[in-house]
Amino acid sequence: MNILETIKKNIKGKNIKIVFADTYEVSILRAAEQLVKEKLCVPFFVGDRKVMEKIAKENKINVQGFEVRDPSFDVFTEQFAKEYFEIRKAKGITMDEAKQTMLKSSFFAAMLLKHDVVQGMVSGYASPTKPFIPAFHIIGTKGARASSYFLMLKNEQIFLFSDCGLIIDPSSDELAEIALTTASTAKLWNIEPKVAMLSFSTRGSAKHALVDKVKIATDIAKKKNPSLLIDGEIQFDAAILPEVAKKKCPDSVLKGNANILIFPDLNAGNIAYKMAERLGGFTALGPLLQGLQKPVNDMSRGASVSDIVSIACITAYAAFEGKK
Ligand SMILES: CC(C)(COP(=O)(O)OP(=O)(O)OC[C@H]1O[C@@H](n2cnc3c(N)ncnc32)[C@H](O)[C@@H]1OP(=O)(O)O)[C@@H](O)C(=O)NCCC(=O)NCCS
Repeated sequence: MNILETIKKNIKGKNIKIVFADTYEVSILRAAEQLVKEKLCVPFFVGDRKVMEKIAKENKINVQGFEVRDPSFDVFTEQFAKEYFEIRKAKGITMDEAKQTMLKSSFFAAMLLKHDVVQGMVSGYASPTKPFIPAFHIIGTKGARASSYFLMLKNEQIFLFSDCGLIIDPSSDELAEIALTTASTAKLWNIEPKVAMLSFSTRGSAKHALVDKVKIATDIAKKKNPSLLIDGEIQFDAAILPEVAKKKCPDSVLKGNANILIFPDLNAGNIAYKMAERLGGFTALGPLLQGLQKPVNDMSRGASVSDIVSIACITAYAAFEGKK
């Protein structure tokens, strides 16, 4: 059974409510129909039910089992606006602006999640820029920063790659946090974390400020979680190949068996996951958000119906596991 089938088995029939902020998108509605049909979650939408139903009808999509809330009339909109004003007033927002913001589906959806009306949120499909902001502002982070990861799958192999989608140029502190957060995310996937802090250098083989950044990050992460199996700075081959590890860093705790790869910046991370996917034959699931108080995931505008179903299932699974 592959990992997605396992997730579906775990969430099936649990009635986990997942809110979609992109209510008028045919692909989202089609994915929601499939989610209902397979009893994988309860799709929740934010917007005008009539408009949604019209689009669904035109595309022969059955909306039975969908829940819809319209911020223009909802009993909670006023309360949510007041709350949003409180959260953002230090940043100079006015009450009027807070009210306007609450009419936006992604912000209202984030409020529904904050108040446990739903257990997870999927957004970003129709958003050209910064789809993460409602989650950052309203849901909040567990630590200093949220980050993202990809679940990389090929046959029996599973890796977590981070950060390949969110933090562009992390400082050493941020890189350490990315490593610790990803190690904690690994538990969701029953992976015993072995974290490689990747660089073009292994243990001082090269000297450069970019290498120092990774080395310092490794030291910070080790200090914060001394029992974590983590090594860095380390090259990719020494991180994943035991025979190379023996030569380059024989005392490495990873012994060439890293399963979490932390990249020094978004250039490296984004290029690496695409290469593993396109040249290495891995399936890349993500980017998935981590480090937020509650499960939120974004998807790209190119996401297929099956991608949307997968992201919704992963979000529901994170909500289900998080409650245990
Ligand atoms: C996500 C992203 C847009 C944030 O950029 P930014 O310049 O920090 O954005 P802003 O400064 O406008 O930040 C907006 C708010 O989000 C917060 N924020 C930004 N990144 C955050 C993070 N990783 N975790 C938590 N909050 C974050 C900021 O602190 C800010 O909060 P504030 O409004 O209370 O001050 C940026 O990191 C980005 O573009 N990342 C790359 C995404 C991308 O292109 N990926 C492509 C590959 S998939």
